[in-house]
Amino acid sequence: MKNIDLSQVARDYERDGFAIIRDFLDHTEVEAIKNESLKLVEEKASKDEIKLPFHHQIHGSSQHFLDSANSIEFFYEKAAYDFEANKPTLPTLQSIAKIGHALHKLNPIFNKLTTSQKVCNVFRAIGQLQPTIVQSMVIFKNPQVGGEYTPHQDATFLSAEDPNALVGFWIAVEEATEENGCLSFLPGSHKSELARRWVRSKEKRDDGALLEWTDSPRQYDNSLFVATPVRPGDLIIIHGLVVHRSAMNKSQKRRLSYTFHAYDKARTSYRDDGWCQDNGTGTFLTVSV
Ligand code: FE2
Repeated sequence: MKNIDLSQVARDYERDGFAIIRDFLDHTEVEAIKNESLKLVEEKASKDEIKLPFHHQIHGSSQHFLDSANSIEFFYEKAAYDFEANKPTLPTLQSIAKIGHALHKLNPIFNKLTTSQKVCNVFRAIGQLQPTIVQSMVIFKNPQVGGEYTPHQDATFLSAEDPNALVGFWIAVEEATEENGCLSFLPGSHKSELARRWVRSKEKRDDGALLEWTDSPRQYDNSLFVATPVRPGDLIIIHGLVVHRSAMNKSQKRRLSYTFHAYDKARTSYRDDGWCQDNGTGTFLTVSV
């Protein structure tokens, strides 16, 4: 990371609900997480251990998904999966959607980056006193099949009691452009309330779902979103309440990224109805800043 004015980053974050730090990782660091991501998929694919496509309806009734909070699991793109034949329609590296959700705890390469001094400096700059990382993911966004993420607030999925104390780090491992589905934000929308939450069902449901929505999705004006194209190594920090989206990747270029989320344990607690729980495994990792 070059000389970054972190106080300016903090002001951007406070004003807009997101901030971009260019060249947060250098070329060597980017290559390390890219190579590790590809290696993990290839190893898993060779053992035929990838089980499920990535989709909220499927996740919502999947113990495998809940268990991924404390392990490293692999998920296919819905658009690259044949549900009748129960297998992907493309080679694994072209059909994979994501790896998650305890890379930050269980994988040495991702652990080193996620707990690094430069990450802690950003946490400190935005006022996080006891940042506690709850999940991490590699997102592949493969050409032609990498799915859309509809407008959402991350606090819908990650259950900090106070959603203002939730932050996401999103690091571009490959270039993200408007063509391959870079993130787009509704600036200032972090000042709004949390629209809905995705929570563990209190009672056994007839449809077998283990998770459910507390409300229907809110509608947003797509023309108000601001695209944030970024280069490999750039970091975007994302407030837990800011509304953001990304389009399907209709290009020929993959859009690999590494992302993780943390809440400030000094300011809030974590609700026990969120899908992602520590379950006594230590995957909720508090770092010293
Ligand atoms: Fe998000």
